[in-house]
Amino acid sequence: MTHNPPDDPVVALLRGAGCVFAEQEAAILREHARDATELDDLCARRASGQPLEHLVGWVQFGNLRLSVGPGVFVPRQRSLLLARTAVAAARARVSPLVLEAFCGVAPIAASVANAVPGVGLHVVDADDTALAFARRNLPGGSGIHLGAGLGPLPTHLRGRVDVIAAVPPYVPDSARGLLAPEARDHEPPRALLGGPDGLDHVTALISAAREWLAVGGELLVEMNTAQYDLIVRDGRAGPSYECSAVSGDDGQTAVARLRRTR
Ligand SMILES: C[S@@+](CC[C@H](N)C(=O)[O-])C[C@H]1O[C@@H](n2cnc3c(N)ncnc32)[C@H](O)[C@@H]1O
Repeated sequence: MTHNPPDDPVVALLRGAGCVFAEQEAAILREHARDATELDDLCARRASGQPLEHLVGWVQFGNLRLSVGPGVFVPRQRSLLLARTAVAAARARVSPLVLEAFCGVAPIAASVANAVPGVGLHVVDADDTALAFARRNLPGGSGIHLGAGLGPLPTHLRGRVDVIAAVPPYVPDSARGLLAPEARDHEPPRALLGGPDGLDHVTALISAAREWLAVGGELLVEMNTAQYDLIVRDGRAGPSYECSAVSGDDGQTAVARLRRTR
């Protein structure tokens, strides 16, 4: 990694703009810029609130460097919990078939591809810009499907998928104002917001997934812990699933684990 000079004006600019990791960001921008003019331009755009990952075109996700860019959701570090859970679930099966729904640039599918040789992969998203990045992040031969929910999946996958993993949009509509400006101003609202309690897409996915999962297959969905409690309390998973949760170290993130029992 490029080192920053002492009394670095780039670090000072980024810190003044509220960047918490100003030193690291300055080093990344310096490494990315081809000359001083481009560095000035990148710093100004970062200071105005554009996500670092949109500017440099990648995000570090575990041991993977994933392609990402303007107009799409940037994978969050908290989703490594879902990635690890999906890898473990896939490894527990012979010749697993794994689907990432609401995939964006496909961080979970890419993590599974990297850790589970021979896995069969499919991803779905309603945004073709996100899918263009997903295509770069996934091995050739992955099934990449454009459309809403699980609607565009090929019918031959019905009842055959071992693991469905998803980070659907799950921010309650009323919490939009609480989002970091990077997200609120630079990521598409439809990648973030999930209705009055944030669970519109989650609830629809739980209902749709049953048809695609093999019996014994698992639906793994990231949400916050309070939302998981709501799903269990309201019985939203229905009688076809056995429910449990994996909790993140941040005390907020949960991966709901719904195993299709019948
Ligand atoms: C929170 S982002 C998660 C993306 C990715 N899984 C990740 O963790 O980086 C949600 C994604 O859902 C997609 N999306 C929103 N509504 C959708 C729908 N009705 N059907 C399919 N995808 C949808 C958005 O385009 C976005 O890429």
